[in-house]
Amino acid sequence: MSIAIITSGGDCAGMNPAIKQFVDYCFLKGVTPYFIFDGLEGLIDNNIKKAKHKDVAGILHEGGTILRSSRSKRFYEYKYRKKAFENLDTLGIDKLILLGGDGSFRALQQFFDDFQVPFVAIPSTIDNDIFGTDYCLGVDTALNTIRLATDSLRDTSSSFKRACVVETMGRGCGYLALVSALTSGAEICMIPELDYDLDSLKIKLEQQIKQGRTYMVCVVSEATNQTYNLVNWIEKNLHIEARATILGHIQRGGNPTVHDRLMAMEFVTYALNKLLQKDYKKGSVVTYKEGKFSFQDISYITSSKYKIDQNLLDIATSMTR
Ligand code: F6P
Repeated sequence: MSIAIITSGGDCAGMNPAIKQFVDYCFLKGVTPYFIFDGLEGLIDNNIKKAKHKDVAGILHEGGTILRSSRSKRFYEYKYRKKAFENLDTLGIDKLILLGGDGSFRALQQFFDDFQVPFVAIPSTIDNDIFGTDYCLGVDTALNTIRLATDSLRDTSSSFKRACVVETMGRGCGYLALVSALTSGAEICMIPELDYDLDSLKIKLEQQIKQGRTYMVCVVSEATNQTYNLVNWIEKNLHIEARATILGHIQRGGNPTVHDRLMAMEFVTYALNKLLQKDYKKGSVVTYKEGKFSFQDISYITSSKYKIDQNLLDIATSMTR
């Protein structure tokens, strides 16, 4: 059997340990492993090579993906997907593992509908926005990167009697901002999943300032588009100097944490065990829910929108009013 691995869409920490485990486990099971480079673009352009042990030596601790990635517009077109299928067919590749986010999952679902190439997808995105799974690879590392940055910003803000407004990534999902706000003791958290009430925040924070508060930490999700509005609001209403820090792509990189290394290994091992079943002919996603790995049909995963756990949202309400 020949199985290929591809990383697609936004990269995240944990992809490299996953790639290493893929190669190691394939060799253990007598499967021929293939690499697809440059994401779906590389699948179209036949940038596909047999993997060797030495390709994955010394990559486990590195962020990013040695296979590189892309966001492919061409893959929306049938003629390019057909070319991609022909490439796999010519090389005798039977099945695929994909590491990626929601957009890549939908692309592969379409590819499966067209050509029935069996696959298992592994939720891999710092956004943690995939329906059906509590955890996506890379989230823990991104959260730790944000924590480190926010701790540093707290140091300088407290030295200057300032407010820092930290903007996190997450696309449409406020998970990164929410967890970062909770775990850094932020005064204000703005995410699309929570309403906020600036009038009551003003009353509360004014009171705290009267009682001696000298600085503030605020975490804002990029999805709200409110970062600079909040900076202006703080300066105008609370009369504290404020600075915005857009963390940006720094959140995608960095050495994978222990949690992401281990999750990468488990996700891949589960995925490969499924693909190794001779009669496996589906398109599925490995999910991690309530502490357990399982499989869901790709159509189920793409059928709904991820919702943040209500308990977390409830805890964060105090940072919105
Ligand atoms: O999906 C991952 C992500 O990092 C989002 O959080 C962010 O909005 C987006 O990708 C940025 O995309 P790009 O790397 O194409 O600028």
